Amino acid sequence: MNLEQLNRIATAMVQPGKGILAADESSSTIKKRFDAIGVESTPENRRDYRELLFRSTDAMRNYISGVILYDETIRQSAKDGTPLVKLIEQAGSIPGIKVDTGAKPLPFCPGETVTEGLDGLRERLKEYYGLGARFAKWRAVIDIGRDIPSYTCIKANAHALARYAALCQEADIVPIVEPEVLMDGDHDIDRCAVVTEWVLKEVYQELYYNRVVLEGTVLKPNMVIAGKKCAKQASVEEVAEKTIMVLKRCVPAAVPGIAFLSGGQSDEEATAHLNAMNRIGGFPWKMTFSYGRALQAAPQKAWSGKPENVSAAQAAFSHRAKMNGLATLGQWKPELEKRAA
Ligand code: 13P
Repeated sequence: MNLEQLNRIATAMVQPGKGILAADESSSTIKKRFDAIGVESTPENRRDYRELLFRSTDAMRNYISGVILYDETIRQSAKDGTPLVKLIEQAGSIPGIKVDTGAKPLPFCPGETVTEGLDGLRERLKEYYGLGARFAKWRAVIDIGRDIPSYTCIKANAHALARYAALCQEADIVPIVEPEVLMDGDHDIDRCAVVTEWVLKEVYQELYYNRVVLEGTVLKPNMVIAGKKCAKQASVEEVAEKTIMVLKRCVPAAVPGIAFLSGGQSDEEATAHLNAMNRIGGFPWKMTFSYGRALQAAPQKAWSGKPENVSAAQAAFSHRAKMNGLATLGQWKPELEKRAA
């Protein structure tokens, strides 16, 4: 393990002003996104769409530190034959790879899942390193409901995350550790705070027992936020304060940075929350974004599968990337959205 390299990559991933583009939708997830814009999900269309993103020079050079890819994408080439990985590298951004194989039902725990993908992971990581990946992602999913999450579910997912992270570091790949507490339910923000704290405590315990070196990791958590179906939605300030509070209780200062997922927040909410946290400040880690939907919803809509819309889609992507880049510095303002519209 080359700790100096791991720490250098992790630090670059969370550098102020930039964040991570999560473009690692599995084939079934990207099909859902394409269905919504009336585009058939073929390998060529998926390639064209992702090529459009990675050729968005303004966004990629100035605001995107790294890109998370899916297995298919890391092997694909642009229309002119340039490997997509090369496009990312040429823009000064770091290629990464999703390595889990998805959340599967957890026996005897109704409504809960455990993320799989450890078998053969050592060999796959070696191959991905050869293909250019310098960081990886593994997403654990924790749902909040009447009698869930169970300790069984939290423990199983935390252990798998730690096993994954150790294998990554052995292969000189920075692990993004992503325990996502979903915002799908009707729970309030305080319930989310309690569950997120519990999950993060278990995750850091397991990382320790599995000898993961925190300086060579990046945490990708949910924000502490009310469930989508909760009647009482929290203010931007409350989300920012409670998220910082929970993270301070759980995440050691040795972790270089925290890159949030957007999890179903609107584009502007995801930006406003990140901005509010960076304005408050006073925490030991960098705080940035690793957004999927909150970066891609606008360009997907603008593109809608039509070649003549490519530059409009790139402009939409660059705008969201810039807004979130500003949010990492606490310099975003709602007026900046209106002016662009
Ligand atoms: P969202 O920002 O759409 O939640 O996706 C981020 C991600 O990579 C989830 O694993």
